[in-house]
Amino acid sequence: MVDVILGLQWGDEGKGKIVDYLADKYDIIARFQGGPNAGHTLHINGVKHVLHTVPSGIFREGKINYIGNGVVIDPIILLKEIEHLEQQNVPVKERLIISKRANLILPTHKILDAASEAAKGTAKIGSTLKGIGPTYMDKTGRNGLRIGDIVQSDFLEKYNTLKEKHLQLLQIYQHEFDLAPIEKEWFDAIEKLKNYEQVESVYFINKALQDGKKILAEGAQGSMLDIDFGTYPFVTSSNTISAAVCTGLGISPKNIGEVIGITKAYCTRVGGGPFPSELEDETGEKLRKEGAEFGATTGRPRRCGWIDLPALNYACLINGVTQLIITKADILNAFDEFGICTHYEFDGQQTNELPYDMVNKKIAPVFSYFKSWGKINKGQQLPEELTQYIAYLENYLKTKVSMVSNGPGRDELIELEDSPLLA
Ligand code: GDP
Ligand code: IMO
Ligand code: MG
Repeated sequence: MVDVILGLQWGDEGKGKIVDYLADKYDIIARFQGGPNAGHTLHINGVKHVLHTVPSGIFREGKINYIGNGVVIDPIILLKEIEHLEQQNVPVKERLIISKRANLILPTHKILDAASEAAKGTAKIGSTLKGIGPTYMDKTGRNGLRIGDIVQSDFLEKYNTLKEKHLQLLQIYQHEFDLAPIEKEWFDAIEKLKNYEQVESVYFINKALQDGKKILAEGAQGSMLDIDFGTYPFVTSSNTISAAVCTGLGISPKNIGEVIGITKAYCTRVGGGPFPSELEDETGEKLRKEGAEFGATTGRPRRCGWIDLPALNYACLINGVTQLIITKADILNAFDEFGICTHYEFDGQQTNELPYDMVNKKIAPVFSYFKSWGKINKGQQLPEELTQYIAYLENYLKTKVSMVSNGPGRDELIELEDSPLLA
């Protein structure tokens, strides 16, 4: 069976921390989409680790961490991550397996990402500049290179053909760059990555399922950044939702079990695009400060606002969320009361449905206010205000909340009664 963890907002919901916590209950932890645009933070024994491509089960003994075919890999970034982990005595060679079908991010993909963003001017997406868009474009355009290609005799030829195409494209942009040093680092990293196991993934993952192994699929980004259902065009270039687990790992939908949706107790977004419940005032500033809301990949300040229930409801629908986990509940303690966006108002009407055009439509958030709960102590009864907040969310979203996270540490988590995860 494959259970899924994914973000329901615009990314950075705390997926990495939850995956690390739950990884102990699974045999394989698998990334199925995205690439090094992701930054998943884990705090283990007081040490902070940020993972970009390696799944967040890597610190757990005896677990396989699998990078699926739907992921795009930058060899330089992946190698840096591996070296960081090995310096921490994590036996990566024993724990990491890569699908041969995962597409490669070339140095010129990163340059194209930067050139494309610069050309967009004020309309830029706010990409992480990791080459994600251009790499997925080459994948769907049937020009991409894959991990399995690196050991083939015509790899260099294929690389040069694609590079030439990119160099021609770059002439249109008139973007300045220095390719040679990145190219050398890229080829050096490719050589070293040959020492890590690469598999024909369809048989690997399906055999694991037939053998009764339990798989935890780890989403990157969030549902509102999905290429089809997010706030297009201010999205990433992959499907981030539960449906992508099947195409990103090579498994049938009948294997999907729990779909665990992660949401912060408030809301953040990095980069451009619509964010109806954003607070562009001192309250938003306070959320950023208290929540330490700065990007794990780019260090950019995250935009902050109150939780957005119309968007969460939409995300629950498209993912088939079976249970919710609320993170960063501790941060709201800094406020006496906090808001919840229950409806959007536009064209003179209130609704809880998202409009087709979120970019140009002026959406006013309708907020209700709740009292905050003070300190949450593990092993003690939940504060009444928090219980009421959870009940409100469960009723609105018609989905059970199974856990509440109350700090960045691995064990700062409260499992609620009758959580299916306790089974
Ligand atoms: P991800 O991309 O979804 O894995 O999330 P990020 O790692 O980008 O961002 C989440 C941030 O919140 C990280 O710095 C985490 O260490 C931190 N975090 C996760 N859960 C909690 C929580 O419950 N409370 C607090 N205070 N911090 C948390
Ligand atoms: P995790 O997995 C937050 C955002 C970027 C930008 C848009 C497109 O850590 O939650 P891209 O580089 O994909 O072309 O950027 O998507 N973005 C993320 N925001 N968390 C992420 O990942 C993100 N990955 C991409 O900021 O607005
Ligand atoms: Mg992140």
